[in-house]
Amino acid sequence: MSTATSVALDARRGFNRSIAAFFSVAARAYDQRTLQRVVYLPPQDEMVSLLERYGSRRIIDIGCGTGILTARMAKELDTEVVYGIDMSPGMLAKARQRSSLVQWRNEPAERLGLPDESVDAVITTTAFHFFNQAAALAEFQRVLRPGGLLAIDALNLRARWAAPVQRLTGARLSPAATPSPRQMVELITAAGFELAEQRPVRRPWYSRPVPDVLTVAIRR
Ligand SMILES: C[S@@+](CC[C@H](N)C(=O)[O-])C[C@H]1O[C@@H](n2cnc3c(N)ncnc32)[C@H](O)[C@@H]1O
Repeated sequence: MSTATSVALDARRGFNRSIAAFFSVAARAYDQRTLQRVVYLPPQDEMVSLLERYGSRRIIDIGCGTGILTARMAKELDTEVVYGIDMSPGMLAKARQRSSLVQWRNEPAERLGLPDESVDAVITTTAFHFFNQAAALAEFQRVLRPGGLLAIDALNLRARWAAPVQRLTGARLSPAATPSPRQMVELITAAGFELAEQRPVRRPWYSRPVPDVLTVAIRR
């Protein structure tokens, strides 16, 4: 990774606690149907079909929030074990009510409690911008078996319409760090993954303003 990229992405914060607290409050409104349909559902649909295609049976959903996708994976896919990981107790409380098929764990992406090479797939939707990305990717690499699948749905705030909005809102002050697709490839490659596929998330017309990119990689 270039020094500039690493400086830009590491100019980050020790803010995990504030994010967890924020989402514990946001948990009350998070499952609102329109919000879910417009923002969160399209990448979740992508993940379900991707995991089906790869036949992954031991799966972790990192930053699982209220567990809508996690519970869906446990119900709809042929799995051995599904873990839902989140730092926010409020989000996880809702997730626990949703499904008893998932093993819910309150821990940060950057320090997972699972053993080395214990899962077939690590996925994350609409949460990667909050992580300490280098530390989280090192953990994903550690817990994935060789040949395992990494799938990241990440916001790309450099997308056509988003960049001017970012400038206007002074989003450089935002705690979120959103790598460009190219920076994402640099990050995953440096962490020991090989890129398999990268493209915008498929979204219906009413959802297209959400600028997110799906990056799929294989653990070396
Ligand atoms: C916008 S929500 C996305 C939830 C879910 N993936 C979805 O698609 O609906 C982001 C979630 O990431 C969690 N999160 C943020 N930083 C985290 C970290 N470092 N480790 C674990 N979870 C984190 C937050 O608590 C929040 O629940």
